[in-house]
Amino acid sequence: MTQHFDVLVIGSGIAGISFALNVAKAGYSVGIITKKSRAESNTNYAQGGIACVTSKDDDIESHVQDTIVSGDGLCNEKVVYEIIKNGPGRIEQLIKTGVEFTQHDDGQISLGQEGGHSERRILHVKDYTGKAIEAALLDAAENESKIKILEHSIAIDLITLKKIVGSNTINNDKIIGLYALDTLKGTIDTFLSSAVMLSTGGVGQVYQYTTNPGIATGDGIAMAYRAGAEISNMEFIQFHPTALYTSTDERFLISEAVRGEGAILRNLDKVAFMKKYDKRGDLAPRDIVARAIDSEMKMSGAKHVMLDLTDLNSTLIKERFPTIFKTCLRYGVDITKDFIPVVPAAHYLCGGIKTNLKAETNIDGLYACGEVASTGLHGANRLASNSLLEAVVMASAGSSSVIDYLKFNTFELVSPTEWINGDAQDSDERVVLSHNWDELKRTMWDYVGVVRSTKRLERAKTRIKNLSNEIHQYYWDFKVEPALIELRNLCQVAELIINCALKRKESRGLHYNLDYPDKNKDAVNTVIKKFESKH
Ligand code: FAD
Ligand code: SIN
Repeated sequence: MTQHFDVLVIGSGIAGISFALNVAKAGYSVGIITKKSRAESNTNYAQGGIACVTSKDDDIESHVQDTIVSGDGLCNEKVVYEIIKNGPGRIEQLIKTGVEFTQHDDGQISLGQEGGHSERRILHVKDYTGKAIEAALLDAAENESKIKILEHSIAIDLITLKKIVGSNTINNDKIIGLYALDTLKGTIDTFLSSAVMLSTGGVGQVYQYTTNPGIATGDGIAMAYRAGAEISNMEFIQFHPTALYTSTDERFLISEAVRGEGAILRNLDKVAFMKKYDKRGDLAPRDIVARAIDSEMKMSGAKHVMLDLTDLNSTLIKERFPTIFKTCLRYGVDITKDFIPVVPAAHYLCGGIKTNLKAETNIDGLYACGEVASTGLHGANRLASNSLLEAVVMASAGSSSVIDYLKFNTFELVSPTEWINGDAQDSDERVVLSHNWDELKRTMWDYVGVVRSTKRLERAKTRIKNLSNEIHQYYWDFKVEPALIELRNLCQVAELIINCALKRKESRGLHYNLDYPDKNKDAVNTVIKKFESKH
């Protein structure tokens, strides 16, 4: 089946829906393709909040400086300034859309504190900010007649004009739509549009331990890379220092806002250790805290460290962090009395599809915003709670540039070929999928984690290459299914992370390589395109 929209959006998190609402208001039809139920996204799990200058005691320059310090020399300062300056307007819009940020009794917005921020500037809805934002945005989208949300539809690949008419016929390629698998019906649909916005979020699932939900498989990055988009800074994976340690692979986030209210990290001897690593102590930027925990665990051989909230007022804890309180209780930890066992876990991708401040990629008709994009805001390490901010600001900028683009670019009168699906369905072979999935995640965790070395990266590269060859073979022979689509993308993303990490011959921000412990004074952002990384 083929469907037409003026604009297609892949992803229904904060970035995708905010963008869709703006484009629909300008009168264009928008199809939102989303692979699970509509609310399922990283956005839905965001806890700490959204960083923005709203208090009279704060100023844009201070937020800009904190972002640049955290980014460790690789932020694009113009981008930082523009995104932060445009934040307050987007917050106003979120409030108009129905987000009720937590307020004090006097009606002032409650502002949280997180690592690397020199001021309290995190607007939040208790500890379920993302859920509140997602609900308000979805409500608005459902009431917008120009928006159609297509759930359980997983985008497989972008359709480029060159693929249809042949690469000799035109000079400049452009995106004209995408193929997606309807996971309920098992059919592959063709969607055509003048522009595609990628808002597919992050890549946490490439690691064995992650705070991200199952949707975070890097699909947008892999699709864009295959279509010829530039990909940047993939080596900068942010490991959140404090995820709840459990004996399974599950890693529930314990928000940094908890340390913002005074919680302290302790080793198993109950010694507070952060001051030993950084004078900012427990509120040092995340890369420093995660490496400090890694070092404490390696020194003691312990499987985790402890987060101590026991000096905080228990009523405040339950009121401010109800989700964390209830979830920990389910795991047998009463956070008002017990120390919480915590470990680092893969949390956020600072790099992604390279875009400018208009959310444009290097391919006509292809845009990206939210976690999938690399704008230059985060540099080598994202400042806490800057991602929701970036997503709303860039969704707004992206909608303006797509609306401009639509004025001069209408549907291409071409008929893409239908997707040809492999027909083999040997169930014995399906074990390859689950085995390779596990192997990939474990390889990335063991060899491409918080602390890296060139030998480990090379080892990971060889393993992932083997997996990639095997999956490639499987991909074209077998009927596509979500696990196969995602595994193929995860493999692609793993290769990109490793290749970017090998290119960086220094340690900076979130990338720490034992063989290159120092910073290069003239380091630049890493950029990779398809033809370069095919070794
Ligand atoms: P997402 O919200 O992840 O949405 C991606 C969408 O794309 C989903 O709907 C998904 O189903 C869809 N999708 C993906 N691939 C496909 C495909 N192939 N086909 C169709 N659909 C697809 N940031 C902050 O600033 N503050 C916080 O307090 C904060 N807390 C966090 C807590 C947790 C536990 C996590 C995991 C992240 C947190 N972050 C926080 C990061 C932040 O939540 C994300 O960076 C942000 O929500 C990303 O929004 P997005 O719209 O770009 O992507
Ligand atoms: C948190 O609440 O600690 C997560 C905030 C973020 O990822 O920005």
